[in-house]
Amino acid sequence: MYFIANWKMFGDIKSLNSINNVIKFSKLSKNKKFKLIYCPPYTLLNTFYKKIQNSKIILGAQNCHHEESSGPYTGSISSKMLKKIGVKYVIIGHSENRSTGETDDDINKKIKSSIKNNLNIIFCFGETLKQKRKKDTNRVLIRQISRALKGVKKKDRILFAYEPIWSIGTGLIPKSKDLSQTINFVKNKLKNNFRLKFPKVLYGGSVNSNNIQKLKEIKIIDGFLIGGASQKSKNFIDIVKKTFI
Ligand code: PGA
Repeated sequence: MYFIANWKMFGDIKSLNSINNVIKFSKLSKNKKFKLIYCPPYTLLNTFYKKIQNSKIILGAQNCHHEESSGPYTGSISSKMLKKIGVKYVIIGHSENRSTGETDDDINKKIKSSIKNNLNIIFCFGETLKQKRKKDTNRVLIRQISRALKGVKKKDRILFAYEPIWSIGTGLIPKSKDLSQTINFVKNKLKNNFRLKFPKVLYGGSVNSNNIQKLKEIKIIDGFLIGGASQKSKNFIDIVKKTFI
């Protein structure tokens, strides 16, 4: 199981103290069934990297530019730069970036550049409320996935994070039956159409230490992408613990 903390545009040097408990928890836990990945903002990556040495926490970033190494792109960071400072995972295709202009083509290029630089990818996709109401979810998801994966070779480096846009930051999660059907649908497509033997499909959107009880019942989910609830170490640890009780 993957538990991925997405801090978004939150956090400063002081907030790094909050992961002391998570480091302790990961060291003490005898459970080997989970991976903890933290994706802090760029400004904290370096300090974070030093802090998590000799712990089980893995470092991730929240985005990258599609150009694989360097270039005249003011304000951008490449996958190569991330790799060089110890980042292992990168979130690509988050709806908060799609909504400010990131296209399927950008996403496809970012995935390719990240794979070239030996990063693992947390690829996000999901439908809007309007699309859900029109019963368009499956079609939208397949379109996003196909475009993102076009010409991508090492697809086993990708974690597929289903994040319905209407559930991000709203406190709403899909009905268990719907979520289970969607994850099943995506997994089968990844196996049959994209020849992935063991696709890993995660869920993200308002995951917290209460609703995890319900979410964990959907056994085909391979992990969770956690925004708001990942900022407090207690909430994050509770989510991990409750998943395995
Ligand atoms: P949330 O964010 O948990 O705050 O809903 C999840 C995400 O955007 O990855």
